[in-house]
Amino acid sequence: MTKILKIDSTMPGRERIAEAADVIRHGGLVAFPTETVYGLGANALDAEAVQNIFTAKGRPSDNPLIVHIADVTDVVKLATDVSPKSRILMQKFWPGPLTIVLKKKQIVPDVVTAGLNTVAIRMPSHPVALALIKAAGVPIAAPSANLSGKPSPTTAKHVIDDLDGRVDVIIDGGDTDIGVESTVIDMASSIPTLLRPGRVTLEELEEVLGEVHVHAVVHGGKAGDTHIRSPGMKYKHYAPNAEVVLVEGGINACEKVKQLVDQYKANNKIVAVMSTTDRHYPCADISLSAGSDHLTVARNIFKQFRELDSRGVDVIIVEGVDEKGLGLAIMNRLRKAAGGKVVP
Ligand code: TXA
Ligand code: MG
Repeated sequence: MTKILKIDSTMPGRERIAEAADVIRHGGLVAFPTETVYGLGANALDAEAVQNIFTAKGRPSDNPLIVHIADVTDVVKLATDVSPKSRILMQKFWPGPLTIVLKKKQIVPDVVTAGLNTVAIRMPSHPVALALIKAAGVPIAAPSANLSGKPSPTTAKHVIDDLDGRVDVIIDGGDTDIGVESTVIDMASSIPTLLRPGRVTLEELEEVLGEVHVHAVVHGGKAGDTHIRSPGMKYKHYAPNAEVVLVEGGINACEKVKQLVDQYKANNKIVAVMSTTDRHYPCADISLSAGSDHLTVARNIFKQFRELDSRGVDVIIVEGVDEKGLGLAIMNRLRKAAGGKVVP
């Protein structure tokens, strides 16, 4: 039985937080909101509890988890060789949507890091997440709270749809703000390497760090076996059941989108268009706009993918965005959802 706990996201009530924290301390699983997406948490220092996360999600065991903390001083309990530049990142972007990969200490169980010698750490800014970690008194390992392969959840309902009956508690703290997962930067490699783009942008990281490598997976490239630094990125992620076709070129995508709609409809497919402008496509069976600015689009993409799936569409044609700022994260998620079906 999964217990649903409604918690006010601006002023988390102490009793309900304590109840959820108790579940974490006793080796249970708690889904909770963060500012990016909902996470599925367990005590990061309890290997058995963490193993249950993989089981509940159906997640491959070679995909490591992010460890969430509520106090910067906890970093040194989990990681070593923390460079001055890593410290600046923490000062500037924590609490917030940045995950930092560091050399791990022995205390972190292998199941958390999938056997890597590094650990990914993040201090979230969501009041419920912070209160839960503090009350639990242990770091919380948490991937996104979706079934493996599904779009990340941005509402408690998404989590319930995927994980009801598979976890102990689901905290309902309302919609998440950012809508795409945190930025992941590898600070354990000789040159800082962006492994996953997010709300903390590449440009912001470069301002602090100078040179930043952008891993090939960020642009949808293939990670050769020996170069997989972010094992999670090799899986087809964020994918709705419907076939997704991404049309690059933003503003100029309109004609191409219409052409594709006609083509799929001629083959008796139910076709939806998700625009990233204010544009609507009456030619499609369903026409949704995810918004016309990057912040709004990021907040809506996973939600709209789930909505279109529930409406039973066969094909989702998506307008791309430009890759500046948060646009890099949006395009990264759209490319993954499209699984290679990208029209220039
Ligand atoms: O916003 C987020 O990051 C959300 C919330 C819940 O915090 N969490 C999340 O977790 O998105 P997950 O498991 O869905 O994604 C974690 C990513 C994966 O791509 C994984 O490969 C990478 O972080 N990662 C974790 N540990 C790593 C490590 N030691 N080295 C490289 N990449 C790592
Ligand atoms: Mg995930």
